[in-house]
Amino acid sequence: MILFGIKFAPLRVPLERRLQTLAAGMWFIIIAFGGMVGAWVSVYMLLYTRYYPLVLLYYTWIYVDRHTCETGGRRSEWMRNWTWWRYFRDYFPVNLVKTADLPATHNYLFCVYPHGILSSGAFCNFASNATNFRSVFPGLVSDVLTLSAHFWMPFSRELMHGLGGLSASKESITHVLTHSKGGRVLCLMVGGARESFKCKPGQYEIILKSRKGFVRLALKTGTPLVPVFTFGETDLFDQVANPPGSWLLWFQEQIRRLIGVAPCIPIGRGFFQYSFGIIPRRHKLTTVVGAPIEVPQVSVPSQDLIDEYHEKFTDSLIQLFEDHKGKYVDDPKTAKLVIE
Ligand SMILES: *[C@@H]1O[C@H](CO)[C@@H](O)[C@H](O)[C@H]1NC(C)=O
Ligand SMILES: *[C@@H]1O[C@H](CO)[C@@H](O)[C@H](O)[C@H]1NC(C)=O
Repeated sequence: MILFGIKFAPLRVPLERRLQTLAAGMWFIIIAFGGMVGAWVSVYMLLYTRYYPLVLLYYTWIYVDRHTCETGGRRSEWMRNWTWWRYFRDYFPVNLVKTADLPATHNYLFCVYPHGILSSGAFCNFASNATNFRSVFPGLVSDVLTLSAHFWMPFSRELMHGLGGLSASKESITHVLTHSKGGRVLCLMVGGARESFKCKPGQYEIILKSRKGFVRLALKTGTPLVPVFTFGETDLFDQVANPPGSWLLWFQEQIRRLIGVAPCIPIGRGFFQYSFGIIPRRHKLTTVVGAPIEVPQVSVPSQDLIDEYHEKFTDSLIQLFEDHKGKYVDDPKTAKLVIE
């Protein structure tokens, strides 16, 4: 039904589907705004309520606990196994596709594209147990790397830790990859927050040419690189138009440089209508995990060596996209990976 240009959802929707929509909407709110809301709530409690000693105690804990996200994290299998994530999975739905065996004798660096607005596919597959990662890749445990600022935010940091979140810093990645003999998978959104400005339905624009730090880390630790691509990620939201050269993109870039988070203005759907809102659109998400690229261990890799493996990685990411787009994108004829 369309009224005043707004497309409304049918009135009779099975409860199961309503719960899926709720799971996806709540997920967006918690991931996008949870940190900020937690910070405000804690400051309010500190200044205006008699619970301030508890808040001080909690702040002390955050300080004492500040290195956890740099030194392997604190995952909770219970949190990763919440029913919430299974409703989230069924909303889109999300699928995990394996193309090669990954022996648990190694650690792996999953280089996940595209970032999308909030990396929904990576979240579901690698930060929760909803698609049962551990039975798809026996012997492996996955952790998602994210901006270290998230681990300073009251309350939401506990969720991030529980889901297996780790700081995306050089120290944190090196720590895990050198302290573990095998079985750890670190998932890095190589394009970073800036890539989310390029998230538009039906487009596959990624940032890779200028990103080489991950190849250096892989070489230093001898960790195989694994190209990973989530088809559908860019179809979940449109965003308020911010083409290169526009004042909006300039302004968003300034904020991103300041706080690290990209202030996209997403256009998804609402609970009762499909025209606007912050709930992702219901669109199939397929995360395809490619074959590992073996990498030698070199303590001081030369620029030539880094460039060589960067090129190998780029080629296999393009190959992965081309091999699978026929099955997983809406319009395979025009779908093209644009690499910046
Ligand atoms: C995870 O949740 C599923 C479904 O609720 C349950 O069957 C399973 O036992 C849980 N796993 C663990 C380790 O608790
Ligand atoms: C993951 O989910 C599967 C399927 O629901 C369940 O059997 C398994 O116990 C879960 N694993 C963990 C570690 O929670």
